[in-house]
This record gives sequence, structure tokens and C-alpha cells, in this order.
Amino acid sequence: LTMDAKAQTAAKPHLPDAQTVTQVTHWTDRLFSFRVTRPQSLRFRSGEFVMIGLMGENGKPLLRAYSIASPAWDEELEFYSIKVPDGPLTSKLQHIKVGDEIILRPKPVGTLVHDALLPGKRLWFLATGTGLAPFASLMREPETYEKYDQVIMMHTCREVAELEYGRQLVESLKDDPLIGEMVGDKLRYYPTTTRENFPHMGRVTDNLTSGKVFADLGLPAMNPAEDRAMVCGSLAFNVDVKKILEDFGLTEGANSDPQQFVVEKAFVGDGI
Ligand code: FAD
Ligand code: A2P
Repeated sequence: LTMDAKAQTAAKPHLPDAQTVTQVTHWTDRLFSFRVTRPQSLRFRSGEFVMIGLMGENGKPLLRAYSIASPAWDEELEFYSIKVPDGPLTSKLQHIKVGDEIILRPKPVGTLVHDALLPGKRLWFLATGTGLAPFASLMREPETYEKYDQVIMMHTCREVAELEYGRQLVESLKDDPLIGEMVGDKLRYYPTTTRENFPHMGRVTDNLTSGKVFADLGLPAMNPAEDRAMVCGSLAFNVDVKKILEDFGLTEGANSDPQQFVVEKAFVGDGI
């Protein structure tokens, strides 16, 4: 090493489990997505989450749970993130640039995986806000289309701009050289807003209980023989959706006990 290189190495200590940022896109003042290099040894199931973060000022890693938004076959990893103004991690993470390093603990876990569901005809992805992230992975996962005849992505946000990451992702699937053909017309996208005018409006919960989404898409009401669901949103959302799915006769499952629906929190922190 030259003196300069030595000085640089000393000035920038190598992070444990470091991965390099390859792309950053800001969607709104509260939402951004980014891609990082993938550790060669990392294997995960589409829909799982990992711990990622940055080095804190105290020299200890500051880590948070993040759904991997990219599918298991992608050579990079993608994440879709909130920006919490005073959030310990995201107040800093929102400023990352291409070439920066983040910490990524290569231990994927989670319940929003195909193994946790019994076979069915239709698969419903039900999300609010950044709860879309695991489904951004699963919508790009071939197994999703091998296992189901129809896949319905319901995503609700307050405002139209907050739907844009998901909208562009769904749009891009048609022409995706790897899975475009598998997706075909199996994927039905049902985005709604609650606080800004949009062609379809209303909470996921209300559109399920009123039957509006079934009427709009020309589908029968949810039933345990045909329908499977994965749920990811705030705690309040998850609790309300779980009740509705149970009223339709579906049973909650887990990795160790596959059933008809599974639930995961998109974040911790808001009460019911
Ligand atoms: P924190 O101190 O962690 O959170 C501060 C407050 O901000 C929380 O109390 C909550 O009210 C609010 N908040 C936190 N995260 C969100 C969010 N995503 N949407 C709306 N409000 C939020 N976050 C993502 O952005 N993308 C993900 O893919 C993602 N996956 C997760 C998966 C799991 C299993 C869990 C448990 C959480 C996930 N989170 C995700 C949330 C994430 O772990 C952090 O909470 C988030 O990055 C904010 O970190 P922070 O340190 O800035 O603030
Ligand atoms: P609403 O605007 O009617 O509150 P938030 O930004 O508060 O996390 O909400 C994201 C989206 O999820 C909003 O469209 C919000 O609708 C909706 N939402 C919030 N709580 C629930 C819930 N308990 N059930 C269904 N939808 C919800």
C-alpha cells in the first residue's frame, strides 16, 4: 500500500457485513428505494427480511428490519424505505449515495413466504405503505405464478405519489425478460388512495368487506377453498385485515404450520 492508500484505509474503517449501494431513487419526501450488492453466500426466500443499517456514532451498528424488495434470483438486493424525519436510522439512511456502504446481516427470516401457505387458486397480496416491499419481491418471483392462477396486489396509500414505486414495478413486469411471460395476465393490480382523488379509492379493509374489489375485478368473494393471502402493513392494518380474512373462513399459518394466510408487520411502533 502507498502512504495515501494506507491513510485512506485508516480513515475509512471497513464495516462488518458491508455492501455497496449501486442505485438510489427518491419517490417522495417520505419514500425512497435503493439497491446494494448481494453477498455471494446470501440465500433467501422471496418475501423474507434481513437486518440492515449504518454504523452509529457510538461505533456500534444501528440496524433495523427490512424486507428484501428484490426477488431471490436477482444478483443485487433492493430495499424500499420510509424516511422518518427523526428516525435513528432513516434520518441518515435517506442520504446514502451510490458507492456508499451499508451494513447487511445475511440472516434472512420471515413469514411472507410460499412455504407458509397451502396450495390455492388465487393469491392476494394486501399492503399499505412500505408494506409493499415483500410483495415487490414476491411479484417478481416465478414460484408465485407457478403456484397460482391469479395473483392480486392490493396496495393502499394516502396519496397518489406514494403508489408510484409499486406502479412502475408492476408496469415493468410485462416486459421483464426473465418473468414477463410467466406473469402474463395473471397479476391483477388494485392500487387505492384514501386521501387524494384516484380512480380507485378506499382502504383495503373496506374494499374487501363491501365486496367492491371482487366486483371491480370480476372475482368471487374470498373463500378458504380457493383464496390465499399475505398481509403486510401497520399493526392496526394487520389486525383489521386478519379479522376480515378469518370472517371469510381463512386460517392463519406460519412456516411451521402452512395454512391459508400469513401476516407480517411492515414496521413496529404504532398502537392500535
Ligand atoms: P424507528 O425508530 O425504527 O421508527 C420510528 C417510528 O417511525 C416508528 O415508531 C413508526 O411509527 C414509524 N415507522 C417506522 N418504519 C415505518 C414504515 N416503514 N412506514 C411507516 N412508518 C414507519 N421499513 C421500511 O421502510 N421498509 C421495509 O421494507 C421495512 N421492513 C420491515 C420489516 C419488519 C419485519 C419490521 C419489523 C420492520 C420493517 N421496517 C421497514 C421498519 C424498519 O425496521 C424501521 O422501523 C424503519 O426503517 C425506520 O427506522 P428508524 O430508525 O429511522 O426509526
Ligand atoms: P386512511 O387514510 O383512511 O387512514 P398510514 O400512512 O397512516 O400508515 O396509512 C397508510 C394507508 O393505510 C392509508 O391509506 C390509511 O388509510 C390506511 N390504513 C391505516 N390504518 C388502516 C387500517 N387499520 N385498516 C385499513 N387501512 C388502514
